Amino acid sequence: LNYRVPRTRRDIFQTLIKGLQRLEYRGYDSAGVAVDGSGKDHAASISLYKKTGKVKALDEEIYKNNAIDFEAELDTHFGIAHTRWATHGEPSPVNSHPHRSDKNNEFVVIHNGIITNYKELRKYLVSKGYEFESETDTEVIPKLIKYLYDNRENEYVSFSTLVERVIKQLEGAFALVFKSIHFPGEAVATRSVRAMVSLKLAIIEHTNKVIYLEDDDVAVVMEGKLYVHRIKRKAGEDPVRVIQTLQMELQQIMKGNFKAFMQKEIFEQPESVVNTMRGRICFDSNTVILGGLSDHLKEIKRCRRLILIGCGTSYHAGVATRQILEELTELPVMVELASDFLDRITPVFRDDVCFFISQSGETADTLMALRYCKQRGALTVGVTNTVGSSICRETDCGVHINAGPEVGVASTKAYTSQFVSLIMFALMMSEDRLSMQQRRLEIINGLKKLPELIKEVLALDDQIKSIADELYHQRSLLVMGRGYNYATCLEGALKIKEITYMHSEGIMAGELKHGPLALIDKHMPVIMIIMRDACYKKCHNALQQITARQGRPIILCCQDDPEISKMAYKTIELPQTVDCLQGILSVIPLQLISFHLAVLRGYDVDYPRNLAKSVTVE
Ligand code: G6P
Repeated sequence: LNYRVPRTRRDIFQTLIKGLQRLEYRGYDSAGVAVDGSGKDHAASISLYKKTGKVKALDEEIYKNNAIDFEAELDTHFGIAHTRWATHGEPSPVNSHPHRSDKNNEFVVIHNGIITNYKELRKYLVSKGYEFESETDTEVIPKLIKYLYDNRENEYVSFSTLVERVIKQLEGAFALVFKSIHFPGEAVATRSVRAMVSLKLAIIEHTNKVIYLEDDDVAVVMEGKLYVHRIKRKAGEDPVRVIQTLQMELQQIMKGNFKAFMQKEIFEQPESVVNTMRGRICFDSNTVILGGLSDHLKEIKRCRRLILIGCGTSYHAGVATRQILEELTELPVMVELASDFLDRITPVFRDDVCFFISQSGETADTLMALRYCKQRGALTVGVTNTVGSSICRETDCGVHINAGPEVGVASTKAYTSQFVSLIMFALMMSEDRLSMQQRRLEIINGLKKLPELIKEVLALDDQIKSIADELYHQRSLLVMGRGYNYATCLEGALKIKEITYMHSEGIMAGELKHGPLALIDKHMPVIMIIMRDACYKKCHNALQQITARQGRPIILCCQDDPEISKMAYKTIELPQTVDCLQGILSVIPLQLISFHLAVLRGYDVDYPRNLAKSVTVE
């Protein structure tokens, strides 16, 4: 934070804390701030405040501190703040950021990412007499910069030069911000392989102008001015970083009347899917144009296969749309978890087209898979919700899903928008295929009606809540289905795991008799998805196998299906749509059920334990 007009210390804390609170969904097991110290020459010392738990705990701690002069006016100030999602070392005040060089806080640093050679650096610094207080990889950074500062041998070294010398020694992925009592009013930031993103939510109420740093950029703020330069400048490279304008309204990230962001985001789906389709589908001519792919369409049509890659919910969006992609493109389609794809050193070829599906656009596993495919010459396509994210910038082309900011850690509206985006891609690919026009028309009409049908499903919320009332004390919950609705089972089970901490499994109904049937008895809660599609008869068989073992299934089925209803313990009746779109409707009751279960079990829906919205470590 760098002000050019006098502000009180209270303003500074409030701005930092509020910014952290907006970022809290990305990681929230501890938080910390570093600000210039009190006293006349305030910049000659740095005060650090850190606390385990949510940002609120840090806020309370600061306001309890009588030693802080909150009313003191400061004309220039640089404060840094961080929320942490533990990778090295448990959540605790010493392990949280900012980390410091020594007890006088000569240098303080915040870090996102991982330093892979920290053990070697730590060993070296310990041999030079440095005492470490935390178990983190980050702590080597402030120690190292102090070491370089103390050993600079009479030469004048600027803050940014020191930082450059530090990062020469670091291996791994990082975004860093430094502050020091030796360079008052100044701060240096840099990044390598790791973006400084999602800042947006923290700063949007102060400015909508941002500059995205590239790898190896060093940014210096000095006396209210910003300088950016590159460590290794390649010939012909554009050194200018453009100021970009963020399109985001503050109200978009406020909870409004909802209990939780997740709940708000579930209920936004009638609008978010419209935003995904806006300007892309022409319902009169039945054409679909994804502008971000147009230039590469020819190349994509010539490809050998499509590979859809993602993690968590984004992976499920690939599972959900694979079948319709296969049908409309007549290409082989692989759907891959990014981590496993890399583990297998999967063969990738120049004529492959690889999709990277990611809400945040920053997930490390997905980003690594992207770089892997790029290296092998494949065409890379991003499907992200975050303009300017790493995946967005590093892919050859892409689709923005335009779902609007998603804050709840459990992804909901991003999933349905990813789903719609991939369907639109399939439609675009099959536009000139005469034999597919009937099918395309059916899907396009289905998309048109989708927002209304989503509203109908959301209207079932009370009924779904009453089912949650019956289930919330259970330990397990199975979700079973097949075909177009199998992805809903996986995604529903993931939602339940993530926020209710119940054991949950998405089961492919075709596999029931090969194992999961052993779990069924009159006590095991099972949700089954049985829609009127090509798998209906087979699902019916699975249902019979369940009821024959005294199972009491709760069934998501189409309206007016007496045959299914009579075998069900309970039903949730959904409006019917085209088979390949049904998963968009069937996932919503599961999103709602997981939300209600989590509330009933007393958990914090938006901040599930141990998880983070965007996992930027491998
Ligand atoms: C984390 C989140 C999940 C999310 C996954 C992929 O694990 O907790 O909710 O599905 O990352 O995130 P992405 O931003 O790549 O879609």
